[in-house]
Amino acid sequence: MDGLIRAEGLSRSYRVPKHGGGLLKRLFSAEFETIFAVRDITFSIEEGEAVGFIGPGGAGKSTIIKMLLGILTPSAGSVTVMGNDPVRNRRDNAYKIGVVFGHRSQLWWDLRVCDSFKLLKRIYKIPDGVYRENLEYAKEFLDMGSLWDEPVRELRPGLRMLAETAAAIVHGPKLLILDEPVLETDIPAKRRICEFTKTLNRERGTTIIMAAQEMKVVMEVCRRVMLMDLGSIVLDSSVAAFKQRFGGKHSIRVDLDAPLPEFTLDGVLSSHRFGGLTWDFKINQDRITIGRLIDEISKRAEIARVTVEEGRIEDIIHEIYIDGLNDELYEDD
Ligand SMILES: Nc1ncnc2c1ncn2[C@@H]1O[C@H](COP(=O)(O)OP(=O)(O)O)[C@@H](O)[C@H]1O
Ligand SMILES: [Mg+2]
Repeated sequence: MDGLIRAEGLSRSYRVPKHGGGLLKRLFSAEFETIFAVRDITFSIEEGEAVGFIGPGGAGKSTIIKMLLGILTPSAGSVTVMGNDPVRNRRDNAYKIGVVFGHRSQLWWDLRVCDSFKLLKRIYKIPDGVYRENLEYAKEFLDMGSLWDEPVRELRPGLRMLAETAAAIVHGPKLLILDEPVLETDIPAKRRICEFTKTLNRERGTTIIMAAQEMKVVMEVCRRVMLMDLGSIVLDSSVAAFKQRFGGKHSIRVDLDAPLPEFTLDGVLSSHRFGGLTWDFKINQDRITIGRLIDEISKRAEIARVTVEEGRIEDIIHEIYIDGLNDELYEDD
């Protein structure tokens, strides 16, 4: 087969009332504009891949996923999933695709977890053997024995997501799609879901598509990453190459008790001063450690507090745009 998923020139737009004016004016005005949630996107995904869509909120990740599932109809372009139009094959595809939505429960709130699973077995007409094997696999890996008899509504978000993840694979789908699966989960649950997803891909060859705002999660599970911004894919890269180019960059905020004189250090990509006593440093950890930076600063001023942040998606997107711009400028030379 020519790609498990193929999207060509795929777009989804919305007509929305034009901005400006008060609420009433906007509601009753006849003026609309078209906004693109996803704009002219082309990609293909092969069987067995583990692909992550990352990008800030509103980038278009969920819109793509909904088009893959046939929940939304494209406004332009085409998409096929396992060779078929997902809108027309929505029911058929449900047997072949597992879905985890972090924002929405697929389990029945009033039922116990075990009864929810029994219901799923009936709905998907899952043969006994298949059901038992998949359930045991998920139950053990996700360590969800203790919540088996709990009503779904009483589970903490992290535990509920464990159950949701297991529910998504009991019918043995060859494609698992996860949209913000670990948004509200605690760290142990997050780790288990990531590890489980990765193992499914490795051991069973299940194709994984995951959308998340949190880069780290996608980097851990996937081998390929598509970075989205404003409805477009701004970068499609292997995770290894992505990490090499953008990984290891940290932002360090330092609050001082006294002003810091200007200084330069190898490996410090940029520094910004807010007011007199707060500084933000961006560093490349291949060239300078956080410890060394703090050391150098403390030689020059008393430090009150240090906060370390991973590289932000917005900064990476910014860097890609700037680089693109540089390429264009150099083309003229
Ligand atoms: N029903 C709708 N009407 C108008 N705009 C929408 C609608 N649904 C989504 N959008 C817009 O489409 C864009 C992409 O949304 P979404 O795919 O949910 O982004 P993400 O999942 O990356 O956060 C956002 O700007 C959002 O406001
Ligand atoms: Mg989303």
